[in-house]
Amino acid sequence: MTRLVREPGALREACDEARARGHRVGLVPTMGALHAGHLSLIETARARGATHVALTIFVNPLQFAPTDDLDRYPRTLEADLARCRELGVDVVLAPADGAMYPPGFSSAVEVGGVTAPLEGVHRPGHFRGVTTIVAKLLNLAGPCVAVFGRKDYQQWRTLARMVRDLDMPVEVVGAPIVREPDGLALSSRNVYLAAAERARALGLVTGLRAAWDAFAAGERDPERVLALARGPVEASFDRVDYVALADADDLAPVGAELGARAVLAMAAHLGTTRLIDNVVLGEDPRPGF
Ligand code: PAF
Repeated sequence: MTRLVREPGALREACDEARARGHRVGLVPTMGALHAGHLSLIETARARGATHVALTIFVNPLQFAPTDDLDRYPRTLEADLARCRELGVDVVLAPADGAMYPPGFSSAVEVGGVTAPLEGVHRPGHFRGVTTIVAKLLNLAGPCVAVFGRKDYQQWRTLARMVRDLDMPVEVVGAPIVREPDGLALSSRNVYLAAAERARALGLVTGLRAAWDAFAAGERDPERVLALARGPVEASFDRVDYVALADADDLAPVGAELGARAVLAMAAHLGTTRLIDNVVLGEDPRPGF
């Protein structure tokens, strides 16, 4: 049975009780509009030993800029709860209005370094909002395995850094990207795409594949790999924020020659919709097929 709780303290009680009964808690933080990518996070938590799964649904205003899509972000609580029930999630926290940031809330958690490039350049303040809410959720859940999707690659690396730096009793796990059969990475924002935009969105995965193929064939010149990735993205998107290579762990710039492993990350706009995607060259399978 899935229990829905509205108050943050009730999540803490549920997780404490579960641990007292000998369970390992798995935490899956989400903003709702659950799709197969989220469901794989639940499976990953279980595969990593979680026997009591807590899922949170909260569209966190702190991580949206005034120009972002906070107001139109899909909110589908009833459908989300039905999916959680089907999947045997034990407890869902969908906080009541004002419960996460009560009047007078004035604290923040900020991680340096890994948050600076890529999304950090284009979405100032975004990671501060993410780390603040996730620190709160981890504090509520207590010792646990916490699972995040690798589509938000920089977010995953940032949260792993935060947990290490702040000695949180949490195992942070990044779950592989889930893709549509044609290769498009699943995202709650895909619902914004009109049919023609949906087709153009494949420019991201086409770019990733071109780079993946070149890397697999032995290409190690970052500029040549980037040019191959950029071509399809620039051809199909209205505006490109970045197509970049970075160290796969801390997102530091790559050298003049690529090593055994690097993340290729991209963000681009189709009309009012911003999509991101990535692949770890030298580690991930070829994106899509
Ligand atoms: O990835 C997300 O859905 C959000 O950034 C998260 C981790 C739930 C924090 O609000």
